[in-house]
Amino acid sequence: MARRPIDENVVLIFDTTLRDGEQSPGATLSSAEKLEIARQLARLGVDIIEAGFPAASPDDLAAVQRIAREVGTKDGPTIAGLARAVEKDILTCWEGVKDAYYPRIHTFLGTSDIHLKYQTGLTRAQALDVIRKAVTLARSLCDDVEFSPMDAGRTDPAFLVEVCALAVECGATTLNIPDTVGYVTPNEWYETIANLIAETPGAGPGSGIIWSMHCHNDLGLATANTLAGIRAGARQAEVTINGIGERAGNTSLEEVVMALQTRSPYYKLRTNINTRELVKTSRMVSNYTGIHVQPNKAIVGSNAFAHEAGIHQDGMLKNASTYEIMTPESVGWTQSRLVLGKHSGRHALKVRLEELGYNLDKDALNQVFSRFKVLADAKKNVTDADLQALMADEFHKPQEFYRLVDIQVTCGTMGMPTATAKIADPDGNEHIVAAVGVGPVDACYRAVDQVVKMPNTLTEYSVHSVTEGIDALGEVTVRISTPDGSRSFGGYGADSDIVVSSVKAYLAALNRMIAGVGTGQFKPEGEAATVELK
Ligand code: KIV
Ligand code: ZN
Repeated sequence: MARRPIDENVVLIFDTTLRDGEQSPGATLSSAEKLEIARQLARLGVDIIEAGFPAASPDDLAAVQRIAREVGTKDGPTIAGLARAVEKDILTCWEGVKDAYYPRIHTFLGTSDIHLKYQTGLTRAQALDVIRKAVTLARSLCDDVEFSPMDAGRTDPAFLVEVCALAVECGATTLNIPDTVGYVTPNEWYETIANLIAETPGAGPGSGIIWSMHCHNDLGLATANTLAGIRAGARQAEVTINGIGERAGNTSLEEVVMALQTRSPYYKLRTNINTRELVKTSRMVSNYTGIHVQPNKAIVGSNAFAHEAGIHQDGMLKNASTYEIMTPESVGWTQSRLVLGKHSGRHALKVRLEELGYNLDKDALNQVFSRFKVLADAKKNVTDADLQALMADEFHKPQEFYRLVDIQVTCGTMGMPTATAKIADPDGNEHIVAAVGVGPVDACYRAVDQVVKMPNTLTEYSVHSVTEGIDALGEVTVRISTPDGSRSFGGYGADSDIVVSSVKAYLAALNRMIAGVGTGQFKPEGEAATVELK
């Protein structure tokens, strides 16, 4: 079992998109989507992928195992799994990661007085005992063990030193210090981490122990706190693509990586990330999770390199360095050298898709090619972003219980938008239904509801164009929740007709809800309606 050598000048990037990121409300991913994201994270060059929480469910275990086997190769990243500090979780976690060339067990326990009192009911002495047993067990299985004192940001600093020293003594090789609730601020976090590193016996510079940052973004300070921790000596950053994660999210990978790169004269540190893969990875995660990236998001937002004010445009025309601290190309905002359009053939499409990281067999290529032709007829140039949206729409649907066959809408100024939909049910029966709504999308959703009887609340609907221009492909992401609000599900659809994208996105979310994402607990209520057309 292997561990990698340590380079003090490199900040290791530990990506937890598939674990903490997947804990974002409604972001549940299928196993196929997780595998594909893991492959893209490997292309991006992350050092460690936290592939999931194997003890959470048999599906999670299977997904982690598959990523460990297929992505955790000798040239690939370390594959980590998360485990509570309990024997069953640690053993299951090991089952998940053991086939990776570089496996890691990541175990954790809350150490703040708040977590001890209200969550685990342990005294400090009992917590130390639990940590001792958990880390010792993990290390008996795996040479690479990470320990996290959860809620470290609110843990008594002296107790934190005691906890970290014990974890090292029991065999932990990485000490991850989470600001679980996004409570700390950069200057104090710098001090906390610098003191912790200085005071923890056996874990100072040269000890072989990696200190790691795991910051949440409740005060919008996750990136700043992570960078402060790195300045204080941490050499691993736990991050997610687009900063997705619990509540306000985790530290965003692209922000930390580009801060270290753009300000390398200040930090004097490197990462192993291929930054040109950032935008592509961001899009993939956004498409599969249904979590839209805000336009003003640093690095990967659609406005991150847009210049609106006249004075800025003037400066840009004279020299881009006037208003840009990095080039859009350096983070992957490139246009293809190969412009695809309606005259492009199957081979050109295949080559471009391969460059974008999609390797398709003959049948899948034929399927995409016919969608591509329809799009190219409607749109002069088909861009990389269009192709990524098309791939997400075509191949990353959840299990399809209900499927859109046809939809037709009439709308205008008369106030009676009407939709007629043909929808196939899980047995392949086609139902034709019609409904009137307050707008064309509402009419369509009401029509769908007559067939798919899944009570839900639409909590989010957003539409945006993949590229500029009236002929652009429209992407729609929706989020629906169960009537009691306890669970939410996202859906994504892309088409050159935004009403069609909207219906696809809604059906995708409903299908996810029906799948209960592994739980099978949500069932359609009642018979699907249908209208006989004879
Ligand atoms: O935020 C947190 O504390 C975590 C731990 C499990 C590392 O996600
Ligand atoms: Zn977290």
